[in-house]
Amino acid sequence: MVMEANSAVDANGRGAFGQRIMELADRLAQWSESADGLTCTYLSPAHRSAAAQLRDWMHQAGMTAEIDAAGNVVGRHAADERAAKTLIIASHYDTVRNAGKYDGRLGVLTALALVEHLQRSGRKLPFHLEVIAFSEEEGMRFSTPYIGSSAVAGKFDMGVLERRDPQGDRMIDAMCEAGLDPQAIPALVRRPQDLLGYLEVHIEQGPVLLQENLPVGVVTTIAGTVRHRVTITGTAGHAGTVPMPLRRDAATAAAEIVLYVERRCAAVPTLVGTVGQLTVPNGAINIIPGCCELTLDIRAGEDAIREAAVTDVLAEIGRIAQRRGVTIEAKEVVRGNNVPCTPRIQQLLADAVGRAGVPIRYLPSGAGHDAMLFAGVTDIGMLFVRCGNGGVSHSPREIITAEDADIAGRVLLDAVIQMGAKP
Ligand code: HGY
Ligand code: MN
Ligand code: MN
Repeated sequence: MVMEANSAVDANGRGAFGQRIMELADRLAQWSESADGLTCTYLSPAHRSAAAQLRDWMHQAGMTAEIDAAGNVVGRHAADERAAKTLIIASHYDTVRNAGKYDGRLGVLTALALVEHLQRSGRKLPFHLEVIAFSEEEGMRFSTPYIGSSAVAGKFDMGVLERRDPQGDRMIDAMCEAGLDPQAIPALVRRPQDLLGYLEVHIEQGPVLLQENLPVGVVTTIAGTVRHRVTITGTAGHAGTVPMPLRRDAATAAAEIVLYVERRCAAVPTLVGTVGQLTVPNGAINIIPGCCELTLDIRAGEDAIREAAVTDVLAEIGRIAQRRGVTIEAKEVVRGNNVPCTPRIQQLLADAVGRAGVPIRYLPSGAGHDAMLFAGVTDIGMLFVRCGNGGVSHSPREIITAEDADIAGRVLLDAVIQMGAKP
C-alpha cells in the first residue's frame, strides 16, 4: 500500500510540521556515499556534510549548535532559568547502506521542526531542550553501533577507538581526520541529575501501525540484540581436482550455520535471527573457499529467549566445525538487553496521542534505538510513526506520509509542553 506523501497545511497550521519534516528529509538525503541510493556512514564526507547542514538548520532555528567530539550535532534551546533541567529529544543521522530517508532522521527533523515552531511562536519552556542528531547508531562502518548516544549517555567504551573499518582504517584515526578529538569523548556525558528525560520519534520499521491504520504508536520496550562476526577457516583448493570427501570447504560450513540459525529462530515466536553478511574473501569460481565470513544478529521479545538461542547457535557452530574439520571463530561485537520505556513517559506520549484524536496503540520495538543507551540514566520514551510499503525499512522503499509526520510533530509538541506542566 503506497501512501500519498503530500499534505496541505490547513487554516490552523495543521500539516506545517509534516510538510517541513518531509522537505528537510529530502534535502538531507542529498549527501550520500553512493551515486544511487542513500548511504551515510560514520565520518564519511557525506556524513560530515549532513552534520554541517544539521548544525546550520539548528542555528537557523535559534539554537546554539555544535558538532561534538563523537560527531553528534547538538542543538540547544535554552530556558531562561540557567539551573533548569534538560530534556533531550534525539535520534540518529547516519544510515545503513542503500537506506531510506527516514530511519533516524525523522526523529532529528521532528525535533528540529518543533524548535522552529517554538522559536516562531516565541514560546519558552521551563527547561532546556537539547536536540541531538547522533552520529552513528547503525554501526555500519566500524561494526560499532550507538557511538554518539553511548558518548552522551556516559557508556562509550574507549576500546572501540581501535576498531577498524573494512579498509583497515582505525576509528580513532577517522575521528582525528574529521577534526574530532576522541580524548574529549568522556567529557560529553550528561549528568543524570541534570536531565528531565529523553524522547525519540522514530519510524516503526514494521507493519503493525500500517495494518491497523494508525499514524503513530507508543513504544513499550526496545529489543536488545547480540551480534557476532564469524570467520570460518577451511582449506582452499582447486575446484576441479580435490575430491569432495577430502574437502574442508568454508562456504558449505557457513551454509549449515545459516540454515541452522533460520531453523532455530523460526522455532520460537518473537525470536529472530539474521545472517546479514556472508562473504568468501578473495573467492573465485574455480577455488574451493578456504575462508568464509558471516554475521549473526539474534533478538527476541525476552532476554532469556534470545540468550538460549545464542547459546544453541554457538554450540551448533562448534559441532559443524568438528564435523567438517574447519576452524570457526565467533567474535561477539554487540551485546544489549531489551530495554523498557519508562511508564511515566509512555503515559505522557499516550495522553498526547489521545488528545490528537488518535487511538492509542502500545507496541514493542524489534529494532534497537539510541534511546536504549539512556535507560538507567534518565526516563525514556519513544513515539513510532507508521511506515508505508508494507512497513519496509533499511531499504530505499522506506516511506512515510507528511500527514503522519505532522501528527507525530503535534504529539511531540503536546508531550513536551506537558513535561513542562508536570516535570
Ligand atoms: O539494527 C537495528 O535494530 C537498528 O536499525 N540499528
Ligand atoms: Mn536502522
Ligand atoms: Mn534507526
